[in-house]
Amino acid sequence: MGTVNLVAASTQEELALVLDVLTFGEIEIEGRLADASNVALRGELALGDIRTRVIYKPVRGERSLWDFPDGTLAAREAAAFALSAAGGWNLVPPTVLADGPLGPGSVQLWVEVAEGASRSLVDVLAPADLAPGWLPVFEAQLADGSDVVVAHADRPELASAAVFDVVINNADRKGSHLVLDQSGSLWGFDHGVGCHVEPKLRTVLWGWVGQRLPEAELARLDALAGWLSTSASPLSQTLELLLSPAEIQAVSGRIAGLLATKRFPAPNSRGPAVPWPPL
Ligand SMILES: Nc1ncnc2c1ncn2[C@@H]1O[C@H](COP(=O)(O)OP(=O)(O)O)[C@@H](O)[C@H]1O
Ligand SMILES: [Mg+2]
Repeated sequence: MGTVNLVAASTQEELALVLDVLTFGEIEIEGRLADASNVALRGELALGDIRTRVIYKPVRGERSLWDFPDGTLAAREAAAFALSAAGGWNLVPPTVLADGPLGPGSVQLWVEVAEGASRSLVDVLAPADLAPGWLPVFEAQLADGSDVVVAHADRPELASAAVFDVVINNADRKGSHLVLDQSGSLWGFDHGVGCHVEPKLRTVLWGWVGQRLPEAELARLDALAGWLSTSASPLSQTLELLLSPAEIQAVSGRIAGLLATKRFPAPNSRGPAVPWPPL
């Protein structure tokens, strides 16, 4: 049997199977991803005759950060997946915290990305080159004195990703971590620096600030609020293994905030609101 497309799992049952495969499969490392800020390894995972490609980020390869507790990025990746799946965003590829050849880490399905698709979602360009319908979010001057604008497309899936990022308090949503796969579905990568208790939202997706949240977003936020209100829900039980009680409380607090204003929030973290470089 060849490599199977587990990324295409669509029912709850299929997804549960995928998570089991990621949790119990054995990883053979193929190589290290050069552009990662931590140790991120691409591997082939096998369980029985199922084979699939994964990205494995061992906890012991995590770089220390001043503002996140040591050794917690892999769990944050898995928590981001749990929230993305429970909320029906389906933005984060299936991810678990599991044992790999270099010890515990995050194991996430590898997504085959459509070449260059990221730049059709988010880009940095000269103001004159801004396409009609694109939303400018930030202007900057490069070292050579030229003006550039960071902008993104006005697409409903991106607006949905922006809401997800508010919920997880994503401290690093770069343009290159929003991609399209070959079937045109949107995926987001690199959610290790999320779910902090303090406001840290840093993203390129500020194009809808102040606008009313779409009904579909309000509906998923409402559902998430319900599941998080009881420790008996599968979502709460999953998050309890991955985040501190205060961090789970803060997820609920951000959801409650969105449900109260029903609007895309404006930047309110103390640090810069846009990651640099933005792509
Ligand atoms: N699930 C995935 N499928 C395909 N490529 C991925 C996936 N996750 C990350 N990548 C790519 O792997 C590289 C490193 O991943 P990244 O998440 O940025 O690692 P780090 O957490 O160390 O910063 C990036 O180029 C990213 O686009
Ligand atoms: Mg990264």
